[in-house]
Amino acid sequence: MKQVDWKQVNFPLCLAPMVGLSHIVLREIIQSYLPAGALTLWPSEMLNSRRVPGENLATTPETMKLENETFFVPQILGNEQKPIEETIVKLKDWGAHGIDINMGCPVRKALKHNYGVALMGDLDYAANVVSMAASSSSLPVSVKLRAVESEQSEQDLVRFVSRLVDAGAAWICLHPRVPSQQRRGSADWSQIKLLKRSILVPVVGNGDVQTAADVWRMKNETGCDMVMAGRALAARPWMVAQVAQDMGYDVGFVARTSEEEAIEYGLCLLKFIKLSRKYFGDNLALRKTNFYLRTTTPWLEFGHSLIGIGQKAKSTEELEIAVADFFKYSHRMSAYTELRQ
Ligand SMILES: Cc1cc2nc3c(=O)[nH]c(=O)nc-3n(C[C@H](O)[C@H](O)[C@H](O)COP(=O)(O)O)c2cc1C
Repeated sequence: MKQVDWKQVNFPLCLAPMVGLSHIVLREIIQSYLPAGALTLWPSEMLNSRRVPGENLATTPETMKLENETFFVPQILGNEQKPIEETIVKLKDWGAHGIDINMGCPVRKALKHNYGVALMGDLDYAANVVSMAASSSSLPVSVKLRAVESEQSEQDLVRFVSRLVDAGAAWICLHPRVPSQQRRGSADWSQIKLLKRSILVPVVGNGDVQTAADVWRMKNETGCDMVMAGRALAARPWMVAQVAQDMGYDVGFVARTSEEEAIEYGLCLLKFIKLSRKYFGDNLALRKTNFYLRTTTPWLEFGHSLIGIGQKAKSTEELEIAVADFFKYSHRMSAYTELRQ
């Protein structure tokens, strides 16, 4: 498969791009729960287009990938033609099936520099980045962006996104929390619905999805083509198996109760440590695991003690023993937590 083809994308849930988390290890774990034949989108961590051209993609932790990631859509950040072009060509040769452009950072920058209404003020800049990326290769280009601030009208969102689509965006992912919310507070799904009704390219909805039931609720409420989950899917990678089971796939046993989910979390964590050691080496594996623990333990009863265990461990072997001890006792994992990290 050479590039993302939405007619072939047949699974409604994908992982969000997350710095420090959406790497090969987490993707391999999530992939292990996905039934054969279920095709979704696979992100990368955000990649800086100034750095990618000089990197060895096979050995750089942020760009390592699996053989069977269909469809792999790494995310880039950039605003200059040459590095964007070089990055996209290199990622295409590396096996990317599409390119996602992060429009979160320019928003933050716009806010910091007081451009006034963020995002909308940067319409020309944003459209220019999309057309630069789209003309760099034959790969489809998507854009991930945030909601509009409340002082802007919803029609501004539609106008803005329509301009990105005219500039060549093949699909749009909307995380409808305004920049000032960062990643907290509730996501305004009505903006996903509005976008889906207003533009012709596929729309991916993101934000506030913590369970398989949320995946179906977002799909039903907004009509979006795909649901993207970040922190909760990192915490419960088997959510893809729950969704697959809801769709009628035979996926065998799937953890559903809070006790079953806590056991599954422990198993995933041990796998995370092992795979991190294999791909990243001991030191980086320890750091990556500690970051994973900080983001994912809020769902777990006594999760904070796991964070302490991670911080004390001097090696991944030591951590594995301590984690296995922790999960000798029964724990509970809640369906919902306040999303803070
Ligand atoms: C640790 C972390 C790193 C993130 N890094 C990125 C990033 O590199 N690019 C991006 O577009 N969004 C990034 N995000 C935002 C997520 O992609 C997603 O939009 C956000 O977490 C909301 O989804 P969720 O509520 O399902 O987690 C990051 C989020 C987290 C928690």
